[in-house]
Formats: sequence, C-alpha cells, structure tokens
Amino acid sequence: MKNKHKIVNIVLIAKSLYLYMNAVEIIKKKRNGGELTDEEISFFVKHYVKGRIPDYQKSALLMTIYFRGLSDNETLSMVKAFIASGERVDLSHIKKPKVDKHSTGGVGDKTSIILAPLIACFDVVVPMMSGRGLGHTGGTLDKLESIPGFRVHLSIKEFVSILEKLNVCMIGQTDDLTPADKKIYALRDVTATVENVGLITASITSKKIAEGSEGIVYDVKVGNGSTLPTYEKSKELASKLLQTSKDFGQNAVAVLTDMSSPLGYAIGNWVEIKECIDIMDPETKNSDQSGDLIEVTHFLAGAMLEAAGKVSSIDEGIEQSRRMLESGEPLKKFIELVKIQGGDVKYIKDTTLYPEAKFKDTISAETCGYISKQDALTFGLAAVNLGCGRKTIDDKIDYSSAIILKRKIGDVVAPGEVICDITGESAEKVDSTKQMLLKGIEISETKPIVKSRIIEVIN
Ligand code: URA
Repeated sequence: MKNKHKIVNIVLIAKSLYLYMNAVEIIKKKRNGGELTDEEISFFVKHYVKGRIPDYQKSALLMTIYFRGLSDNETLSMVKAFIASGERVDLSHIKKPKVDKHSTGGVGDKTSIILAPLIACFDVVVPMMSGRGLGHTGGTLDKLESIPGFRVHLSIKEFVSILEKLNVCMIGQTDDLTPADKKIYALRDVTATVENVGLITASITSKKIAEGSEGIVYDVKVGNGSTLPTYEKSKELASKLLQTSKDFGQNAVAVLTDMSSPLGYAIGNWVEIKECIDIMDPETKNSDQSGDLIEVTHFLAGAMLEAAGKVSSIDEGIEQSRRMLESGEPLKKFIELVKIQGGDVKYIKDTTLYPEAKFKDTISAETCGYISKQDALTFGLAAVNLGCGRKTIDDKIDYSSAIILKRKIGDVVAPGEVICDITGESAEKVDSTKQMLLKGIEISETKPIVKSRIIEVIN
C-alpha cells in the first residue's frame, strides 16, 4: 500500500515537472520571436484552464504575446483552443439566419438593446452574448440587469429554447461557453495585457462562434472612448476580427464608428434602457440628443440585415430598419424578451415607475457659444465614479445613477443653460463626478463641424 502511494506520488511529480518545463519552453519560444504551433497553444490553454499551469506562467506568456503579437495562424489556434474548452451552441435545427452584433465598447453605447429585438422582428435569430462594463466603457449585461428580475445567466438549453420561441435572447458568458476566454480574460485584466489586437480578436471571435451565430457585425469604436488608442489600431482590430470570423465560415462585416463623445443622451444603466425604450416607442417624440444613437443603430441594423441575407445592401437594410422601428414591433418584442428572461415589464411599459437616484446636480454653461467637446473617456470615467460602473470586480452598481446630456456637440448654449444633469446615490459622488465632467466639456465661439458617427465599412 505504502509503495503504491509512493509510485502515485512520483508519477504526479513527474507530470507536473513535464508541464512546468513544457510551459517554460513555450514561453521562451514566443519570447525569442518564434511562432507557436497549434499543439503548443492548445497545450497551454487546456492545462491553464484545468489549473495545471499556474497564473504566473500564463501571465508571462500573455505579456510576451502583448509585446510580440499573435500571427494569423496563432490567433486561429487560440480561437480553436478557446472554443474547445467548452461547449458550442448548436442552432442548426433553427432554419433561419443567425446574426449577432458586437461592439468593442464605448460610452453611452446602447445599440444592442434596440438591435436585438429589432432584428428579431425580421425573422432573423439573434443569439446575443454580451459583456459587463469594463474600465470606462459600459456593458449591456449591467444595463439589462438594471431591470428588476432580468436574468442574464441562463443554461445553454434555456438560451436555445428562448431563441426558438422569440428569435432573440441576451445572455452573459456562461461557464460552458469558452470558459478558457473567461479565465484568461480575468487574468489579462489584472496583468495589463488587454489591449492587444491578437488577444482581443481571439477573445471576441471565439465567443461569437461558440454562441452559434453565422453572421456577425463588428462595431469597432474609434476615438478616446474606445478600447484601442488610435484609428490605425482600431482598423487593424477590425481587419483581424473580420479575417478570423471568415476563417470560421461566418459572414462578417466591420463598421468603424466614432467614440470620441458619448452616444445618445444617457450614460448609466437604467437611463440607457429608458433611452432605448423612448426610441422604440412610436408614441414618444425622441430627444434630439438621441440622433447619433439612432443613426448608428440603423446603420448597424442595415449591416446585420445584409449579413443575414435579408437585403442586398446596407442602405436597403437601413430603410427597412427605419420602417420596422416605426411599426412599434421591436418594443413589443423587447417586452416579450424582458418577460421571458424574468424582468419586471411594468417598468418597460411605464418608465416613470423606476426609482430615481436621491441626489441631483447640473452643469450649466458659463459663457455663450457652441459645445465643442464632450470627451468620451472623461464621461466614461466620471460615470464609473458615480457608481454606474465598477472600480473593482466586487463593486455594486447604482442602477439609477446617471449622467444625462441636455446639450450635445454643435449645440448652441447661453450662460446658465443646462448642459447635463447628474443624479446619484450620494451627494459626494455627484459632486466629485461634476468636478470630473467639468474638465471634459468645452464651449467655443465657432461652430464645430459635427460629422457622421459612421467612419468606414470594412468587409
Ligand atoms: N471584449 C472581449 O470580449 N474581449 C477582449 O479581449 C476585449 C473586449
């Protein structure tokens, strides 16, 4: 018995030594400029997810990749390894096109909330797996969870069943789908290795392939409110996302959109849902401050309908999208979606019932002129400070807290006119948020040129 124990121990030690040495060799190869093979990447991902390779070795490899980059082959291997770490949703029995949209993240970016029910109204299936707020950018899941009762953590079985019934379901990453990405993303977040085009591509595309969509529209943000710092980097990311999706047989399009100022009038969680309800409700007169959001939403809808094979051009898709929104059907679909995912629809039917945050302040113009700057990064960071996002993983979100833009870039203001409202759960948070926002707003004597949010389409 004792000897058997000894042999088992020796085998275990030999196994961990083998893993340890192999991991060191792989890190060294990448560090020295080599290209990793399919087997090497799959080895690292598989054993890391199973807890056999420690965080410090995975961190070393990630940092090496951050500086060296990932070749196209390495990116493909990474995507394959991420997908293989979990299940893959099979939607082949639903005989309809399946299309999703993914945004690389922004401030006030809420297009998913409208697009998911809108596109589902065209008898296109939208299997939407979204994320939480990250750094200064907001997250669709946090916004959806501001609706009391809304469940974003569903089993794959329930996800598929809702898609069969409604054509649309909006969920978060599960433990079954690409668990390797979930674990590695958490490590990237704390090792300053998020902002790498290859790693971002592998992370995003693996989820989009595993969730079962056949077509995908990437909304790649450009400007200081986006994840990547320059136009060139955003464009590189768009090309790599497209290439990788196409390598896996997806019909993919990327749209570069401007994220140098917040999109729409609302920044927060519930207020962003409310802005979307206002846009979907044909009875409501939409705020002028939602114009840019409506523009981007219809453009992405046009691209999604084209990717689904429902129209022959984005322009035709935009036209159809406008007509569908006016019909009021997307709001009905959204109410069905909220209901089936456990949300309390009374707040959707009457948004005035939602509790307001306790403290309020405003920022007003001191001079006469045109709003020339509403810096997206500053607004995003201020929203996190207010409690709309998390500074650490355990932070609780204040769903009612909000920054509401009353004036947008290009609007004329007179002294004393309100530029934005700030509402929050503590007077201190509201005040410190106001101080942050003041640094991100500028008024000029000359009217700035207000360009379209759509910069470029790549396909
Ligand atoms: N979003 C993701 O899902 N992954 C990344 O790496 C970055 C943004």
